Amino acid sequence: MNGNTFGRVFRVTTCGESYSGGFRKELDIPSCLYGGLMTIVDGVPAGIKLTADMIQEELNKRKPGQSPLDSPRLEKDLVYIFSGVMMDQMTTGAPVGIVIPNNDIENLHIGQYHDYQEAARPGHAEITYMKRYGQYNDWVGAGRASGRETVSRVAGGAVAKAILDREGIDVIAYTIESHGIKAKPITYEEAKANYRKNDINCPDLAVAPAMEKDILDVRKTGETCGGIIELLVHGLPVGLGEPCFDKLEATIAHGLMSIGAVKGIEVGAGFKVAEMVGSECNDEMYWDEETGRVRYYSNNAGGFLGGLSNGDEVRIRIAVKPTPTVDVVQRTVDCGSHKNVELSPITRRDASLLPRIYPVCEAMVRIAIVDALMQFKGYRNMEDLDPKYDQI
Ligand SMILES: Cc1cc2nc3c(=O)[nH]c(=O)nc-3n(C[C@H](O)[C@H](O)[C@H](O)COP(=O)(O)O)c2cc1C
Repeated sequence: MNGNTFGRVFRVTTCGESYSGGFRKELDIPSCLYGGLMTIVDGVPAGIKLTADMIQEELNKRKPGQSPLDSPRLEKDLVYIFSGVMMDQMTTGAPVGIVIPNNDIENLHIGQYHDYQEAARPGHAEITYMKRYGQYNDWVGAGRASGRETVSRVAGGAVAKAILDREGIDVIAYTIESHGIKAKPITYEEAKANYRKNDINCPDLAVAPAMEKDILDVRKTGETCGGIIELLVHGLPVGLGEPCFDKLEATIAHGLMSIGAVKGIEVGAGFKVAEMVGSECNDEMYWDEETGRVRYYSNNAGGFLGGLSNGDEVRIRIAVKPTPTVDVVQRTVDCGSHKNVELSPITRRDASLLPRIYPVCEAMVRIAIVDALMQFKGYRNMEDLDPKYDQI
């Protein structure tokens, strides 16, 4: 399996699964070493303040079992810094190692997966994993396709946040639509003021209760549902990104589309650009006396031009599919006997992934931005540009 590292200069590597540590329960080792998630962050500058509490704060946002909307899993997601930080809580420049043991690996859960290990859940990764990894496939709780995998991304994103906070760059994500129920357009100020004010993390406080009630109604039927998360980035300097393969919106899209259950992405006006004429789509410019900078009358571009940040607000939306595990009988195949079977999974699930996926989205965007920022600062230090270009 390849592709467990994200980033070129600021590199976040993750490993770990959901329940496979259950097979080490007989070993004479502390239970926190049975299994869990690990993150190694390479490329962290020395002298960044980083504590386990700072990482824990981010992990607590995606922890299951916090509201009636979540899966009843009991993971505490307690974080331990393993390396790269010295006693005064400052990074040393060495790789930052982070460990998050799984504490909810009961034999019952392993048994549930054991009984269904040949029957692939529709919408989940089992069928492709089975074909790809054969008899070695991790069939307990979906292995690397488990939502647990995102814990280690959030830990890496917390390190990125510690760096971005110093740079005044803010990333925020929230629910803008759930199962067809839409929030009104949200400004950055509203997003900040109403962040995490309700279980669905929708800053439109008038619409959030309807979204939450709908998810609970959907849960009662054994079904699940999806929705849309919006992300805003404020404080990006102009020029981050590389103009070809590593366009900033491409590396951010890479990070976001690599999250399980994310099936679509829109940048700025997104798919609406297809309905516009050119002059309408173009973001016209003006000279802003107050800031002494070029500004834009609109932001259909979503904060990017030519693959580089344009200094405007970054606005991105991602579509999240309904949680694949449903309590509804579905047709599938028993891959051992090749027989058509009906499956009604009994494992724990979230009725909607929206309340738990937004911190993962924030993490991936932060990691992509720190990576781009480091490359930008590196090149700009070596380039002898006429200072007049700093005046636009
Ligand atoms: C935070 C998070 C939690 C998730 N929890 C579950 C879950 O409890 N049950 C489930 O069936 N899928 C869950 N998923 C979704 C699956 O991981 C994902 O749909 C599956 O791996 C198939 O990948 P794909 O949808 O990207 O094709 C979760 C995803 C995320 C990001």
